[in-house]
Order: sequence, then C-alpha cells, then structure tokens
Amino acid sequence: MTSKFLKLTGLTMALFAMGTGAAHAEYPEHPITLVVPFAAGGPTDVVARSLGAELGKILNQPIVVENKTGAGGTVAAGYVANAKPDGYTYFLHHNGMATAPALYNNLRFDPLNSFEYVGEVVDVPMTLLARADFPPNNLQEFIEYAKKNGDTINLANAGPGAVSQLCGSLLQQAVDTKFTTIPFQGTGPAMTALLGKQVDILCDQTTQTIPHIDAKTVKFYGVTTKDRISKLPDAPTLDEQGLKGFDFKVWHGIYAPKGTPEPVITKFNTALKEALKSEPFQKKMADLGAEIVSEERQTPESLKNWVDAEIKKWSPILKAEGMNVN
Ligand code: MLT
Repeated sequence: MTSKFLKLTGLTMALFAMGTGAAHAEYPEHPITLVVPFAAGGPTDVVARSLGAELGKILNQPIVVENKTGAGGTVAAGYVANAKPDGYTYFLHHNGMATAPALYNNLRFDPLNSFEYVGEVVDVPMTLLARADFPPNNLQEFIEYAKKNGDTINLANAGPGAVSQLCGSLLQQAVDTKFTTIPFQGTGPAMTALLGKQVDILCDQTTQTIPHIDAKTVKFYGVTTKDRISKLPDAPTLDEQGLKGFDFKVWHGIYAPKGTPEPVITKFNTALKEALKSEPFQKKMADLGAEIVSEERQTPESLKNWVDAEIKKWSPILKAEGMNVN
C-alpha cells in the first residue's frame, strides 16, 4: 500500500514537474539556426560565426550556422522565408536582400513582406584585389591595363545578388570596360582561386581580405568607400585615385520568417544588441575593418526602412544596366 502510494505520488510529481516545466519553459529551448547565404569561410560567414558565438552565450543555446548557397543569396532567402516561424531560424544577409528583386524574376520571397526584421549588424568596406603576379602594380596601372585587356581579365565573384558582383559591375562602369566574370558559391572559394592564381581580380569585403592584404599574398589596389578606413589608414580609396564618385560599402541585417512571434523577435533583438556590445565581437570586427552599426540602427524598424530605401535606390539602376538574369 505504501509503495503503491509512493509510486503514484512519484508519477504525479513527475507529470506536474513536466507540466510546470512546459508552462515555464523559456525561449530558446534548443539550438537556433543562423542561415548564411554564401560559402563557409567567406566574409558573411565570418560575421555570422563571430556573432553566433556571442548570441549563443547570451541566449544560453548554441547558434548553428548553416551555409545555404546559390543564386547570389536568393536560395537561402527563399528557404528562410518559407521556414517555420518558431524563433529557431534566422538569416544574416547583406545588400543582396535589396538588389534581388531587380535581378531575379521568380523569387520565393519578397524582401518587404516575407520576413520579420531583427536589426542591422555591421557595415563593411570592400577592397579591390588582384592575384599576386597580376601585371598592374597599382590602380592607375590597373585602369590602363583593364582598358586594353578588358574581357581577358577574369573577375571572380559570388554571382548576381552578391556584393562582389555589384562592386565588380560598378568597377566595369567606372573603368568603361567589360571583364569576364567567374562566379563562385561565395567569395571564400573565390579568394582561394585568387590565391591560387586561377582568377585575376576580386572585389571583396575587408572581413575576408585584411589578413591577405597584411600578408601581401595579393595585390591591393584600394578601398571602395569614399573615405579611407581607420583599419587601413594608408590605403587610398578608388575615388581618390581617379575613379571619382566610387563609394560602396556592404550592410548586414538579421531576419526571421514572417510570423515569428513578436516576443521572440524582441528577445532575439535584445540579445543582438548585447552581442554587438561584447568585447570579443567588437575586437574581431575592428580587426577586420567592419563597423558595428549605431544603436538606432540595431532595431527591426531601422532594418525594414533601410531595405525599403535600398530597393528604391538600386532597382532602377540595376534594371537600366540590364542586369536582370532571367
Ligand atoms: C560571401 O560571404 O561569400 C560574400 O559576401 C559574397 C558576396 O560577394 O556577396
């Protein structure tokens, strides 16, 4: 009788504990996936993994980075837009979110209606690089060489929708020539090809290029922003070397599938703000020339307004240039 009573009490208590646990379970209860639209080891991946490490500590759950490559980031965007809106799938993407509608006809997502916005993360300048044994030694020599040799020059990029592609297109216009483009699944593999001297030039983010510039394993022709950057104070910009008006940098934001509950987004956004303040993330980004965005920009509203403005800015330009790939 006593042992039966004890068994029943134990069972009741176990069920109660489960019930209580479920009622009080706090998000997040298991690992969170952070989707990256380009190859592992590249510049977007570096930001995602550094940020994920800090978010994981704050949220007490691992952040698992998943690289879903293809079609300049649009495969990953379509995947996230159609993922379960349960707070366990997020997406780190850059300018490609806003350029995609002008470049592709049949997207599985709408940048303004398929996502919940979490906040902006970092801005990253780009750099123009060439393989170590490419003949031009500086931008002036490169411009002359490019005007004469145009399509014999192989420009590596990560496909339409990638910032390496957009930067390369702006460069073609500025120099008034046409390169032969070689697309990769991200600029991680594009950089490997540049180091292996299989391609000639690459326009890529400092979050990947600074270690190679420092090690002088590539030729470095300049920075794509209007002003010099504090990480490379001696490096001239493309603008100051003659490509007047050249001013391009990469912005990054975090998204979740549309319908992700508001309290979940708020919790993730609070964690994001804390992660952006953390010493390891700040140091890593500073070492790689990336600038953490101001607090006003770390909000869902700011990211949504920015994506909207960028779509309006880039769509007419890309359409006028005939850059649609369908
Ligand atoms: C990457 O992470 O591979 C790059 O951001 C791709 C790109 O150039 O957009």
